[in-house]
Amino acid sequence: MKKIGVLTSGGDSPGMNPAIRAVVRKAIYHNVEVYGIYGGYSGLICGNIKKLELGSVGDIIHRGGTMLQSARCPEFKTTGGQQKGIEQLKAHGIEGLVVIGGDGSYRGAKALTELGYPCVGVPGTIDNDIPGTDMTIGFDTALNTVIDAIDKIRDTATSHERTFIIEVMGRDAGDIALWAGLAGGAETILIPEENYNMDEIADRLRKGQERGKKHSIIVVAEGVCSGGEFAKQLKDATNLDTRVSVLGHIQRGGSPSAADRVLASRLGARAVELLIEGKGGRAVGVENNKLVDYDIIDALAKKHTLDLELFNLSKELSI
Ligand code: F6P
Repeated sequence: MKKIGVLTSGGDSPGMNPAIRAVVRKAIYHNVEVYGIYGGYSGLICGNIKKLELGSVGDIIHRGGTMLQSARCPEFKTTGGQQKGIEQLKAHGIEGLVVIGGDGSYRGAKALTELGYPCVGVPGTIDNDIPGTDMTIGFDTALNTVIDAIDKIRDTATSHERTFIIEVMGRDAGDIALWAGLAGGAETILIPEENYNMDEIADRLRKGQERGKKHSIIVVAEGVCSGGEFAKQLKDATNLDTRVSVLGHIQRGGSPSAADRVLASRLGARAVELLIEGKGGRAVGVENNKLVDYDIIDALAKKHTLDLELFNLSKELSI
């Protein structure tokens, strides 16, 4: 393989830039040319493709977002859109593609693979919801952003003896809520993977108040309900006045953490190795700190599982 392409797609995540850098540098190290596809699958369909050199990825390792830009592209869900993409790749002489993104991006890479075009998926999303890897690129940085917010909210919650509800992202997965809630010492964590019991939550708040603890932090994953909706339910059940903070897109930005930069460098480089070895249709990941790769079709057929042991631990530690 002498020419490969790289694109980022779907919601951006901190660490996409170091992943792009790793793809470019690893490929050039092996005398393979690299083309950047700008604007995700939309850019692919309209041929927004430019050659990348070593210097093109200088000074980006510490930057959030993605220098290749990203987009969500409904047209790429159709076979017509996918075929247009393959035609563009072939017209530029590009023989394989690295796709950095989340669930939707993987589906695009899977579709290209099924049409016979070699693609390798690199998991880049803050949601940590991709099967076949313990961690996705961007998750660690997003967690640090959420923890920073929780710590700050805790200051004002303590001063005013208030209960705060903090809504975090994650789409249908509760990983951000669970990990940030545990690391931030939240009294209650609500995740879509487990039903919650309002009586139990009310009881925990009451017991805390009885032992003199007048403030409380509740982290709600967006996949459960909105923070506002939960505040209403809690008010109906306990008559408690709360304050709601929706952290929103700040969770997607910021300089990638050291852990995300290392993960991105390892996964980006491994994706290039696979293409050079002639292994398309793979998805790379890290399991027990070892690099792994799976058939992308099999990987997508699996379901991401959240660590329920962590959830139980969070309950034990927040009595
Ligand atoms: O997948 C990343 C993510 O940030 C999710 O956590 C969130 O539900 C979604 O993207 C938001 O998407 P958009 O930026 O298109 O509003």
